[in-house]
Amino acid sequence: MDAFLIKGPVRLAGTVRASGAKNAALPALAASLLTDAPVTLDEVPDLADVRTMAHLLGGMGVSVERPAPGRMVLDASRVTSTEAPYDLVRTMRASILVLGPLLARFGEARVSLPGGCAIGVRPVDLHLMALEAMGARIAVEKGYIHAHVSRVGRATGRLTGTTIRFPTSTVTGTENVLFAAALARGTTVIENAAREPEVADSALLLTRMGARVTGAGTGTITVEGVERLSGTGASPHEIVPDRIEAGTYLAAGAITGGDVTVTHARARDLETFLDALRRAGAGVEATGGAVRVSASRELEAVDIETAPHPGFPTDLQAQFLALMTQAQGTSRLVETIFENRFLHAVELARLGADVRVEGRAAVVRGPARLEGAPVTASDLRASAALVLAGLVAWGETRVRRIYHLDRGYAAMDERLRALGASVERIDG
Ligand code: EPZ
Repeated sequence: MDAFLIKGPVRLAGTVRASGAKNAALPALAASLLTDAPVTLDEVPDLADVRTMAHLLGGMGVSVERPAPGRMVLDASRVTSTEAPYDLVRTMRASILVLGPLLARFGEARVSLPGGCAIGVRPVDLHLMALEAMGARIAVEKGYIHAHVSRVGRATGRLTGTTIRFPTSTVTGTENVLFAAALARGTTVIENAAREPEVADSALLLTRMGARVTGAGTGTITVEGVERLSGTGASPHEIVPDRIEAGTYLAAGAITGGDVTVTHARARDLETFLDALRRAGAGVEATGGAVRVSASRELEAVDIETAPHPGFPTDLQAQFLALMTQAQGTSRLVETIFENRFLHAVELARLGADVRVEGRAAVVRGPARLEGAPVTASDLRASAALVLAGLVAWGETRVRRIYHLDRGYAAMDERLRALGASVERIDG
């Protein structure tokens, strides 16, 4: 069942609840490797990528249980392997997040190099640079990262704290160093650290496990290494709400001229995106853990430029581009994070959008009347953009290779139907 069949146009109305954040759950699962005590997580989203990470950890001997919806208990007391094999890493780049914890706790790791993906080369050179600066010996051979911490005398290899300055902000790079530093000897200072809420959530989990972290969520994070970490004890760690999923449903409400409320959503994590919606003329209100968007009149074209948090999230650029196809005027969207993140533009043009890509910028003229047609998803957020366009296109839109969507959105067809959309999952 590899495609969505969407009938439009439709006006969405109602309430949908955001899940826990994919990009906070993935590091949280990897962090379970840092301790031999159980780690209990709540609000873990039911996503393909989370299942892949659980499978990867299972292959290392970590026990992963799901005693109740959204709850996951991980126990890394009997790890039997420190290898992340190619056939799993190639399906999910975030597997690189096991590198820091494995080095920190076991002094060794063999992790397949994550390949690039549709949106870019996605190197991990900054991860490796940082871990080497902490004392890891790293060789890249035959597609694998071979890393170990050389033993000093009889002492087991232990990483050493130092100051790491990232030349560019890297989310998983910051998380890998955070994990490595938690058990390192001495103090680590991460400069130009990623400020994404998911990084702050990973640091909060570590703190609950006994790590000494200050400055998470800012550009400078300081970690005092400790000898060992505990589990989460009696109180599970609740994964932070998924701001990208929330933003996607708010964009769905806006593009259809509807009225959509997303609950279990933190407006403070979405300020720049919500500001862009307001500048486009949508009504946006945030009240106690929920965000509501209403777009009664035609939207105005606005310019955006993606940037590391708290800037406009690159993971919402494709969805916002779809929205701008329906806005009055010309908008210019600049993608500064990834070199090839406009693959959705060509497919949107097949539906009738007036969009032109010029290097790092896409120029959209609207409003364009979209006509339903078959389109093909290329990556997670591009597929979300195509679904949004299908909601307003006249007639039937078939979005193929919807497995891209399943990586980051749980039951999107069900959620959209609950808001009044005509979406069904069919064979591609
Ligand atoms: C995380 O990827 C997210 N994934 C991505 O979300 C998100 O798009 C990205 O951060 C940017 O916000 C997870 O958290 C699992 P980066 P990550 O390292 O950490 C360059 C989604 O849709 N770079 O912050 O891989 C890199 O090429 C996914 O949910 C290096 O050059 O991104 C990029 O241009 C897609 N060398 C920039 O930094 C490195 O060693 C930012 O990448 C690392 C990164």
